[in-house]
Amino acid sequence: MLTTSLASLRLRNPVMSASGTFGSGWEGRTFADLSRVGALVSKTVTLRPRHGNPPPRIFETPAGMLNSIGLENKGVDWFLADTLPKMKSLGTTVIVNIGGEAIDEFVVLAERFSRAGVDALEVNLSCPNVQEGRLLFSTEPRLTEQAVAAVKRVATVPVFAKLSPNVTDITAIARAAEQGGADGITAINTLIGMAIDWRRRRPVLGRGIGGLSGPAIKPVALRMVWEIARVVKIPVLGVGGIRSAEDVLEFLCAGATAVQVGTAGFADPALMVRIVDELPSLLAAANVTLADVRGALHAAPAAAPAEGCARAGHERVRG
Ligand SMILES: Cc1cc2nc3c(=O)[nH]c(=O)nc-3n(C[C@H](O)[C@H](O)[C@H](O)COP(=O)(O)O)c2cc1C
Repeated sequence: MLTTSLASLRLRNPVMSASGTFGSGWEGRTFADLSRVGALVSKTVTLRPRHGNPPPRIFETPAGMLNSIGLENKGVDWFLADTLPKMKSLGTTVIVNIGGEAIDEFVVLAERFSRAGVDALEVNLSCPNVQEGRLLFSTEPRLTEQAVAAVKRVATVPVFAKLSPNVTDITAIARAAEQGGADGITAINTLIGMAIDWRRRRPVLGRGIGGLSGPAIKPVALRMVWEIARVVKIPVLGVGGIRSAEDVLEFLCAGATAVQVGTAGFADPALMVRIVDELPSLLAAANVTLADVRGALHAAPAAAPAEGCARAGHERVRG
């Protein structure tokens, strides 16, 4: 009853891990039967090994956390030899998240992982493009479209474009990803934030700023998933602050086809499987199916814009 079609993939259920928060899944295998989750998404893999940012890299905030890991990973050669076989042995759909600083890097990664038989690729567009003054791919519709189109030209598996929320209009970026041929949109990555130690007059994180995740960002993620789902025809993978089956259904209602669990999994690595267990009874208690909920958000009342929210996009709430 939870089976979910996502592009050409058929998932056992709509619940998957969020990149970078669950390793490759291998690390979590003793906590839960991971063959029961819809899919596992790897941490971002880059062409060459990356050392990441200076410590401290993690800081707990009210209702969330800040991280500035900086895409530390051992590179594609290591991942293919060591990690991918482990991931595949876990018995569920395998999605590999790729990152690069130039389009050529994304292309090589997409070719190599397609050949290696992953089920799908997630393209982390929150990466600086060194050829364009380190502008993030995900902050410019043109760069987003170019990166996605280049990956699509070589990929033989579905390609999901993972977007950053740190933009003025997420719908323009989502449209660009769709235009580039993406098979789905993952939204959202972390929101840029900061923590300060005023006694030392220094930022807490080694890099100064970091990405905010966890329950604190759920309302932002819901809003963006809802906005994106209204303007694209491809499926949306919702992510941001999910920690319960209730949260999952809220994202599906907003228009997501599937969801990813990130920060909440640090405190409870068995959470994804528990959510999968809880979904059927939650749906049964409301006498509905997943299909009844998905994308079924009723139009919001045609109220005056909330204070400070008078931008044009909010007019579209009606109807
Ligand atoms: C410690 C940490 C590491 C992350 N690493 C990655 C990563 O390597 N690639 C990526 O696309 N997203 C990464 N993310 C973002 C998550 O996949 C997710 O989009 C974000 O945390 C929002 O979901 P959440 O609130 O459920 O954690 C990371 C998040 C955290 C907290």
